[in-house]
Amino acid sequence: MRITKKQLEESVAYLQNKGFDQPEIGIVLGTGLGKLVHEIENPIEAHYNHIPFFPLATVEFHTGKLIYGTIAGKKVVVMEGRFHLYEGYDFLDITYSIRVMHLLGIQRLFISNAAGAINLDYQKGDMMLIEDHINLQGGSPLAFGNVAEFGDRFVDMLEPYDTKMCKQLKSIAEREGITLRSGVYASVVGPQLETKAEYRMLKILGADAVGMSTVPEVIVANHLRLPIVAVSVLTDECDPDNLQPVNIQEIIEIAGKTEPKMIKLFTELIKEI
Ligand code: HPA
Repeated sequence: MRITKKQLEESVAYLQNKGFDQPEIGIVLGTGLGKLVHEIENPIEAHYNHIPFFPLATVEFHTGKLIYGTIAGKKVVVMEGRFHLYEGYDFLDITYSIRVMHLLGIQRLFISNAAGAINLDYQKGDMMLIEDHINLQGGSPLAFGNVAEFGDRFVDMLEPYDTKMCKQLKSIAEREGITLRSGVYASVVGPQLETKAEYRMLKILGADAVGMSTVPEVIVANHLRLPIVAVSVLTDECDPDNLQPVNIQEIIEIAGKTEPKMIKLFTELIKEI
């Protein structure tokens, strides 16, 4: 596996020609969490399938667009829909967009996702600030031949999430009366949900939430030294002793109900930056 600078430059040139001019903040929106795009002023859209070298968008829940514009006067680029390993992509595919947004000029990355609650003090419909993670996806987006052309090969993961933005988000939540839990996010490949035994294992490992995304993007953002803030919307409770059948429709519905609070947190943080 390889990435070339030339490919990235072509993707970036395509977007710059469309008017994607020096965005400050990149935002990745998770499953059921697309409505933040309505907050974007003067939007310019680029469908993933039209951007050179972008992976082709497949999942029906995502419309698959990169949208440029302003929120609260700041230039942003928003990924409406992300790429997952479970769609058959590899680690380089699912993180390609992070490298493109970085080359466009972003200086910070905001990430959202839908996740299951492993910590049973947390409930579905809660949000959780990700303060650390466990990579259970069995690979790395930095395990490729020419990685050293793009940054360090051995990347420090001491503070993968930006402590200053985490603090800011916590105080915004307090000020706005929004419950914001915090904890460790474990990433799995999916797309099947976990067995009871796997949920027990995840708890023993120290996870508070589990999902099928985010960690590869965070690893690449650390490679690029991009400060990150990431929030999970907890869409189901993973209680191995009382496990309920989950359906994806319900997960999307709960994400949608929680979404206005997530939008509030992100827009207030954009204002403060
Ligand atoms: N497991 C993995 N991914 C998820 C879950 C879950 O329980 N809920 C939402 N995304």
